[in-house]
This record gives sequence, structure tokens and C-alpha cells, in this order.
Amino acid sequence: MDLELKGKRAIILGGSRGIGWYTALLLKQEGCSVALCARGAEGVAQAAERLQGVGSGDVYAQPADLTDAESTRNFVQAAISALGGADILIHNASGFGVGDTEEDWRRSFEVDIMAGVRAVNQALPALQQSGSGSIVFVGSMASQYHFGRPPSAYGPAKAAMRTYANELAQTYGKDGVRANVISPGAVWFPGGSWDQRKEENPKFYAAVEKGIPLGRLGTGEEIARIIAFTASPAGLWLNATHLAADGGQVASVD
Ligand SMILES: NC(=O)c1ccc[n+]([C@@H]2O[C@H](COP(=O)([O-])OP(=O)(O)OC[C@H]3O[C@@H](n4cnc5c(N)ncnc54)[C@H](OP(=O)(O)O)[C@@H]3O)[C@@H](O)[C@H]2O)c1
Repeated sequence: MDLELKGKRAIILGGSRGIGWYTALLLKQEGCSVALCARGAEGVAQAAERLQGVGSGDVYAQPADLTDAESTRNFVQAAISALGGADILIHNASGFGVGDTEEDWRRSFEVDIMAGVRAVNQALPALQQSGSGSIVFVGSMASQYHFGRPPSAYGPAKAAMRTYANELAQTYGKDGVRANVISPGAVWFPGGSWDQRKEENPKFYAAVEKGIPLGRLGTGEEIARIIAFTASPAGLWLNATHLAADGGQVASVD
């Protein structure tokens, strides 16, 4: 199947490593021009270098802090200028507010919600012009399932993201702009949070693996494929959707 991604212009918020990086790499392999940001300048430069020469299309990479309104808007605007427009916006970064402090809540709200709102509002004219505009939010199964941890900002912020995506989809569908949320379950990749848990607490990691019907955690590449399909013109009839990309980890129908 042709995903019809060749020549599309994709902006990724949080793309220097992990799921955002695998998504950037795949989109570039599929012929997209890709713009990405992250806070760490070194990670951004390395990601840009690794993307050069992959597939076709251009690369634009700039350090930006998504807790900062100006930094977020500047990155998105510069990305649109560099790529000559935007067809795809992927909000992948998270504030990871896995605690219950004011700082956890503030960071989760700023990154998971406000950075998404700011980026969408900045990119909307370009996405409307695209004719195949697509917004993908990377959520979490913590938006609907209690994993047994104490209350924290993380799940509620991801749940709010889902409502926002639906509002965008309902409002801007008429302009050909879709909005969807992909919620990964536990995802392993080298250097990621589950790689760290595997190292620190192998028993817990093994128990999580055992609880997933496919017998292992998902990978960054597997989540990237789901994001790429959803973002692509081939995924056109996915709109206002929440997709559980968890290999059946959460044992419920909704
Ligand atoms: N991994 C999993 O098992 C899993 C499971 C469910 C959901 N998810 C979701 O998937 C998404 C990606 O997770 P991941 O595990 O791939 O994360 P990760 O490995 O920590 O990568 C996050 C990326 O976002 C960037 N970033 C983080 N905070 C930022 C900020 N304030 N401003 C700009 N860039 C920022 C990071 O670079 P810098 O640190 O240099 O800024 C990095 O490039 C998140 O939304 C997460 O909630 C992941």
C-alpha cells in the first residue's frame, strides 16, 4: 500500500529520540520533509544529521522548549517556513508528570496540552492550505486505564488531549484537517524509560511483558508505523479517533 506520504511536510514536536525519533525516521524514509524539535541541542543536531540522506525531502531541526509559548510558536513557524508549508503535525512530547506535585501538573499541562494548542494554532493556516492536513497527538493508555499507580498529572493530561483532538476534528474537518490520538501502551526502545525499568527492576519488567497478550512490549518502530499511517492520506477515514496502540495490554474493549 502506498501511504501517499511522498512530498508531504511533517512537523514533530519532540523528535530527537524515542517514539518521536522513530516516527521522524519512518516519515523521512517514506519521502516526507521532516521538521523536529527537542530541548537538547546535541540530540537535535544528531537527529538532523542521521536524517540527512535518508529517503527524500528536507530536514529542519531546531532546539525548542515546549514548556515555553514563544519557543513553541517560533519553532512551528520556522518549520513551516523551512518546509514551505505543513501537511502533518505530530505532538509527541510529554511533560511526563508522573507525580502529584504542582510542578508535575503544571509541566504536564504546559507540554501535553498547551504546547499542542499553541502548535496547532500556529500551524492551522498551513494545515488548512494543505488539502490533506493531519494532526496526530501521542497520548497514553493512562488516559483511560488506572495502572495501579498513585494519582498523577500524566493520565489526566493525556485524557484532555483526546477531548481537544475531537474538538479539532469536528471543527476543521470541513477544511480537510483531521485530528487523532494514538495511545501507546508500554513501549521498549534502547535508552527509553522501559529500557531503564528493565535494567533497574527486571522482575517488574517481566511481569509487564507477561501481561501483554503478545508476550512483549511494543517497539518504537511499531508505534511509528501506526502514527505514520494515521497521519498519512492513506489513513484519511480515521478522524476524531482514539487508537489504542498497546498490543492488547489494556484488557478492555474501550
Ligand atoms: N515509551 C512508552 O512506553 C510510552 C507509553 C505510552 C505513551 N508514551 C508517550 O509517547 C510519547 C513519547 O514518549 P517516549 O517514551 O518516546 O519519550 P522520550 O524517549 O522521553 O522522548 C521524548 C522526546 O521529546 C523531547 N522533549 C521532551 N520534553 C520536551 C520539551 N519540554 N520541549 C521539547 N522537546 C521535549 C525529548 O528531547 P529532550 O529531552 O532533549 O527535550 C525527546 O526527543 C510521549 O507523549 C509519551 O507520553 C510513551
